[in-house]
Amino acid sequence: MAGMIPRTFIDDLLARTDIVDLVDSKVQLKKAGKNYQACCPFHSEKSPSFTVSRDKQFYHCFGCGAHGNAISFIMEYDRLEFVDAIEELAGFNGVEVEREKTNMTPAQQRQAQIVHKQKQDDYELLEQIAKFYLQNLKTHDDSKQVIEYLKNRGLTGEIVKKFSIGYSADSWDGMMSMFGKSTQASSQLVDLGMAIQGDKNRPYDRFRGRVMFPIRDKRGRVIGFGGRVLNDGTPKYLNSPETRIYHKGQELYGLYEARKYCKNLTRLVVVEGYMDVVALAQHGIDYAVASLGTSTTEEQLTTMFRTVKEVICCYDGDKAGRDAAWRAMDNALPLISDGVSLKFVFLPDGEDPDTLVRKQGQQAFEEILDNAKPLSQFIFDHLLSTVDINSLEGKAALVDSFQPYLQKLPDSILKDSIFTELANKFGAGSEQQLAKLNKNQAVKKTSPIKQPKKVTPVRLAIALLLEHPHLVSVLPDLSILDSIELKGVDLLKQLMEQCQQNPNLTSGQIIESWRGTEQGNVLAKLLLWEHHIDSSAAEGVFNDTLEKIINTFVENRTELLLQKARLGQLNSLEKQELQSLINAQS
Ligand code: UTP
Ligand code: MN
Repeated sequence: MAGMIPRTFIDDLLARTDIVDLVDSKVQLKKAGKNYQACCPFHSEKSPSFTVSRDKQFYHCFGCGAHGNAISFIMEYDRLEFVDAIEELAGFNGVEVEREKTNMTPAQQRQAQIVHKQKQDDYELLEQIAKFYLQNLKTHDDSKQVIEYLKNRGLTGEIVKKFSIGYSADSWDGMMSMFGKSTQASSQLVDLGMAIQGDKNRPYDRFRGRVMFPIRDKRGRVIGFGGRVLNDGTPKYLNSPETRIYHKGQELYGLYEARKYCKNLTRLVVVEGYMDVVALAQHGIDYAVASLGTSTTEEQLTTMFRTVKEVICCYDGDKAGRDAAWRAMDNALPLISDGVSLKFVFLPDGEDPDTLVRKQGQQAFEEILDNAKPLSQFIFDHLLSTVDINSLEGKAALVDSFQPYLQKLPDSILKDSIFTELANKFGAGSEQQLAKLNKNQAVKKTSPIKQPKKVTPVRLAIALLLEHPHLVSVLPDLSILDSIELKGVDLLKQLMEQCQQNPNLTSGQIIESWRGTEQGNVLAKLLLWEHHIDSSAAEGVFNDTLEKIINTFVENRTELLLQKARLGQLNSLEKQELQSLINAQS
């Protein structure tokens, strides 16, 4: 098991990264005053409201409220999870991700390093092989014939390049003679499924005389291949086997390309074949993925729902297609919470997405997608077809048959409405059950960041400190803040402690250390607040603000104790406190 990524590494990584360079490498920025601007990559807009601040190492969109530091940007833009985003950012900076030493023995640690190194080598090797296959398209003797095949299938050079489609020559050692010269290399190729170890002889090429489709993971690393014969040979497709870097049930063919090329990725279409993905992209539907021979797994669906809110599974209209859809539905149920939707499309007999889009074009195909059958209707239709609902027994059986599926669904509006429909149409369920379900109709909404409602000294102090952490030196002894019971002072104090330890932190680094906490959201909100206090004035204002916080507290406290004194309710400690408060003010 890899250890945790140390906090110090994350801090260093953020210190190395200039968010302006990072964002600029993906979205072209224009200088606008102190900041940089672009049209927001996270929602569509005509005039730029996406702002990146070099000082704060933070971005913010005034249109949709997206905001965060360099890590958040990669997570959002490349749609990666936290650890993957760190890896990506490390790659951007040309450094290796550090891992904390777990309680592994030194031998185990060495082993883990070897495994890590091995995988890096594997990715590199497969990338080289993909390039080699691609090169074959240009230089190999068969290239004319292969290019003719691809053309006949309606593919342009541009799309072939986007998917890095290549060709493996029809020989036993086309690839091996290039990449498997040493014993070590040839056994690595066997491990990666690129070569097959016969009984006696040297390993030989697995893929021969095939159009090659490299399969990439979500970070774009080649992890395997699919290869199609050029004629009617069998098997039509050969695929990489499961290897140490390729696990079919976890990967989706085309996902990397969809994320890379699709301008506004809001939905994904799951299809069956490599060619379907590529042909759809050729016709402008650049958001299709293929589930690589298995029925769509829960892991694949989870990955997709992390990327988009809508997934449309596209199947043949025949029995096999319907069965596959049913299995995908069953795998997906636990993931269908409010805000995500799963839909189904069944194609006419004898058609697949490739043939259909070529015949009818993008618009007609997208119309089919727009009219996809929602999950609930799919379940209803399917289960209805299994019972006679004109009889009471049939109705009861229908309701029964729903139970296992309802149980898998998390509480959601969808679940409630299925339940209500069952109750209304088929007389199922009691009032109480309905009432109970209705209670769970909490709708979550993420609202864009708003400006703080009221300027309080504590808010202002936090905002200034976030922007200029070195200001912490204004108050060397933080203990005075301990006794102050004002809203937010505890957060201010924690922040001051953090800045005292390291006054060189950037705002982006500070926010990072609060990721996922409620205070983190408060801090982000305050960092984005346009308080219009110039850097040159920041120190003075910060000083005054702290004084105000302390004075306000002293005044309030004195007033309270005086009142108590009038009523004769002071204990001896409070008497002492009051005395010292009065002394301090005189
Ligand atoms: P299909 O047989 O539906 O082929 O296989 P296709 O995608 O329409 O292929 P073309 O249009 O004839 O080129 C769908 C998927 O099933 C897997 C492959 O992943 C393929 O893309 N498959 C199919 C295999 O793995 N092996 C095979 O022999 C056939
Ligand atoms: Mn096909």
